[in-house]
Amino acid sequence: MKYFTTPIYYVNGNPHIGHAYTSIAADILSRFWRTIEGEKVKFLTGTDEHGQKVAKSAEKLGIKPLEFCDKVSMEFKNLTSILNLSNDDFIRTTEERHKNTVIKMWNILLKNGYIYKDFYEGWYSVKDEAFVPENEVKDGHDLSGNKLEYLKEESYFFKLSSMQDKLLKFYDENKDFITPSFYMNEVVSFVKGGMKDLSISRTSFDWGIKVPNDEKHVMYVWLDALCNYISAISYDNPDKIDFDQDLWDNSYHLIGKDILRFHAVYWPAFLIAAEINPPKKLIVHGWWRCNGEKMSKSLGNVVDPIEVIKTYGLDQFRFFLFKESVFGTDCNFSVEHFKTRINTELCNDFGNLIQRVFVLALKSTENSTFIFSRNYDDHDIVDYVSSVSDLKDNLEKFMKDARLTEYLKEVFEKISLANKFVDKMKPWELLKTDLDKFKKVITALIDSIIEFSAYLYPYMPETINKVFATLNISIDGYMKNKNIDSVVISKPTPLFKKID
Ligand code: MSP
Repeated sequence: MKYFTTPIYYVNGNPHIGHAYTSIAADILSRFWRTIEGEKVKFLTGTDEHGQKVAKSAEKLGIKPLEFCDKVSMEFKNLTSILNLSNDDFIRTTEERHKNTVIKMWNILLKNGYIYKDFYEGWYSVKDEAFVPENEVKDGHDLSGNKLEYLKEESYFFKLSSMQDKLLKFYDENKDFITPSFYMNEVVSFVKGGMKDLSISRTSFDWGIKVPNDEKHVMYVWLDALCNYISAISYDNPDKIDFDQDLWDNSYHLIGKDILRFHAVYWPAFLIAAEINPPKKLIVHGWWRCNGEKMSKSLGNVVDPIEVIKTYGLDQFRFFLFKESVFGTDCNFSVEHFKTRINTELCNDFGNLIQRVFVLALKSTENSTFIFSRNYDDHDIVDYVSSVSDLKDNLEKFMKDARLTEYLKEVFEKISLANKFVDKMKPWELLKTDLDKFKKVITALIDSIIEFSAYLYPYMPETINKVFATLNISIDGYMKNKNIDSVVISKPTPLFKKID
């Protein structure tokens, strides 16, 4: 059983490559564990709809905040289809099920003595919905140059300062809480540096969840937003937070490195204070840049995932995102690299392998049924079969650690071995000279193609369904019963188009 989540996305910007990247990563993990490993999986995504930024965007358009949120949230819902995400839930922070959970969380924190009322005075970034310490402010701007607001208002506070020891103990006892592990160092040194109490309510606007019994306050948007992960697995119990504990004990939050502190410090602090265990793991990824530069509207280099998908295809995009960079570190988007990878790895290496093998197999049959012949005696065939036999173990290991790029590399190394095997065995000649050996070579290759395809399914589900359909089988059927002795082959059509 596993529970994968994406961050819930702010509704005041258009869907961009960052959203696509986090979401597809969660989709790959979900599909792997659900379809390939047969586990029960819940996959959640959604939208983060409260806060000053959203209120301002709605005001600019002269509409009510909820009307604005309905519209943009729908765009994010559409994005889940455009990206072919297999999420089985979509949460909005404006839903009752979420608001109820957040209010219960507030009441527990209050009851446990972690909330008090005072005044907040200091800088606030509306862009990041974050309080900015004085040493990170220069002429009213943060270190990235974003304009800040100076706030002075009554506020409720969460006793974050009292959480230092508990958090450090938690990190110490859960050394693999964050992957890749180097992000852990950053978090530990932040917490060791000492933390001030966190302001968790605002009074200068009202687009948010109202604080119980003090309705001029709305809750800080991050406290609200983080609770979504629990709201979505909560049962409808009016008295307490009552949720699917098994799912929670196996929960994995996918996040970009920019929101690490919220997830690795504030979220566990709220949970520990509420006597709830933190999630099992944070899976953190780096940032995409474009041609070496930070993506920004003013530079005009923002990659629009919908455009890329329309032009080059969804599975090509999904493949590229995870093959191009090492998942966890920063990455660079370049159309030239994109084209090269599609043409060489997808068209030449993977697509052609399938096309060549299926066409030859079909040629050798009378009624399109290819009967497998696995009594291998030839040492070239035996060597080949053994060279690809460790695939399953290697891939499971990579997926357990969310090493999504190494996983893909491993599959493509095996694909390259298969291509070398074809070139060496020259099955088109065997078809004329040694039918018995031909059948064995093709059997070994079809077995590999089915296995490579199954393992590529999480990354390129549509394409792989096509491969399976050409063999008149389905991935679900195959995963349930791998003992196939024959396949009916339909005429294959090329899986990928070359890009000029
Ligand atoms: N609403 C908060 C999350 C609350 S979760 C309780 C938020 N929303 S967001 O819309 O800004 O989410 C952005 C996601 O996209 C984050 O995971 C972020 O890391 C990711 N990216 C945004 N720009 C990105 C790149 N240029 N590259 C890769 N991912 C980046 O934060």
